Amino acid sequence: MISILNDRHASFFTKLLGERYIVNEEIRISYGSDETEDLNFPPSAVLKPNSVEEISSIMKFCFEEQIPVTPAGARTGLSGGALPTHGGILLSMEKFNRILEIDENNHQVITEPGVITQVLQDAVKEKGLFYPPDPASKGSCFIGGNISENSGGPKAVKYGVTKDYVLNLEVVLPNGEVIWTGANVLKNATGYNLTQLIVGSEGTLAIVTKIVLKLIPHPTNDMLMLVPFFDAQKACEAVAAIFKAGYTPSGLEFMERDALIYTKEFIGESSINIGDNHAAHLIIEVDGFDPEQLMKDCEGILNVLENFETDEILFADSEAQKNALWSLRRKAGEAVKSQSIYKEEDTVVPRYALPELLGHIKRIGKKYGFQSVCYGHAGDGNLHVNILKGDLSDEQWENELPIAIRELFTEVINLGGTISGEHGIGLVQKPFMDIAFPEVTLNLMREIKRVFDPKNILNPGKIF
Ligand code: LAC
Ligand code: ZN
Repeated sequence: MISILNDRHASFFTKLLGERYIVNEEIRISYGSDETEDLNFPPSAVLKPNSVEEISSIMKFCFEEQIPVTPAGARTGLSGGALPTHGGILLSMEKFNRILEIDENNHQVITEPGVITQVLQDAVKEKGLFYPPDPASKGSCFIGGNISENSGGPKAVKYGVTKDYVLNLEVVLPNGEVIWTGANVLKNATGYNLTQLIVGSEGTLAIVTKIVLKLIPHPTNDMLMLVPFFDAQKACEAVAAIFKAGYTPSGLEFMERDALIYTKEFIGESSINIGDNHAAHLIIEVDGFDPEQLMKDCEGILNVLENFETDEILFADSEAQKNALWSLRRKAGEAVKSQSIYKEEDTVVPRYALPELLGHIKRIGKKYGFQSVCYGHAGDGNLHVNILKGDLSDEQWENELPIAIRELFTEVINLGGTISGEHGIGLVQKPFMDIAFPEVTLNLMREIKRVFDPKNILNPGKIF
């Protein structure tokens, strides 16, 4: 594979893209990072195509010349999926930023991949429609990146993740051919489900250029509460109990004490008090169309919570307070990471096993001497585990921590879970894939990659 472009390559790209072929060093360096730790892999060039025809030409050329191509969206990813580790080309999708059609008759939207998720959500909301998946980065991430990583977010607990909304995709294959993967329909039993194969494939199989998403009616009401617990295990136990009692919140988030304190400091939030004896909080939201029903749901949830030793519950009584609470949750990742060098794991287990998962995280932390700060989508059994370097030596960080993570992931698998719920495998979780799958399964995946990309030019070095 060619990692550094030569003059012939440069003149091809210049002719095709003009100033949208970029070799400026500063720009290459900035496109060499995403939100994953402090990793940086500057590409040889950054390309900013603006049509499917241009991408097709780029891929045909790169396929012939064996130039690696790493597609990238807004580079908010947390597993290094968009890092051009093999040099070559960083293919930025930022010019694909148009919502093409909001189809109110069919409750669908056709969009380009470079639209910011929040922008898409706001546009469909104006028509009374709802696109629920809402990763913490929704104000800056691209919908195309969400497709690549099969992103989740707090709403997933009631409404599902990105894959549950993707009906059809236009993609460019590594050899430059352009196909649609399915049809713009809600049911489809026609052949293999290539649409869902592309979703979550982390830009390794094809480049997504158009997206057809399913929409639903936007709920008109919601209620939000912050529930302090004296014991973090009890908070985790309460989660499954809420569902067992018949309630499905539209958000059920967990924040450990440290996560909440760091985030309060980070965003300068002072209206919410954290007691000295509060070990963890749940943020619980219910939504729907009937305020009375929501009231009843909240009462029912409060009844369940009585069994789990909570302190005084805060009900957000204004939009401003709701936003403040959600902001506390959404900024947790950034806030925790601002504390120290860190590694972030994205563990997920069946919901009822959440207390056991938290137990293993803390036990393994004690054994290896690291501080972990946990928060995440408790209703989905999905805990983000931030491991802070703190006082660990470089030697411990480099050599012992991977062993500790391996131990943690092994427990996650034993609990019936898996090693990433929504951040993907990308680059940084690649060494642990053998814990999640036996060789026979990994080989099937490798074969699928080979069928799509026989020369391994598209986002090489990811997942496997
Ligand atoms: C969150 C991101 C890190 O839930 O997934 O905040
Ligand atoms: Zn998350």
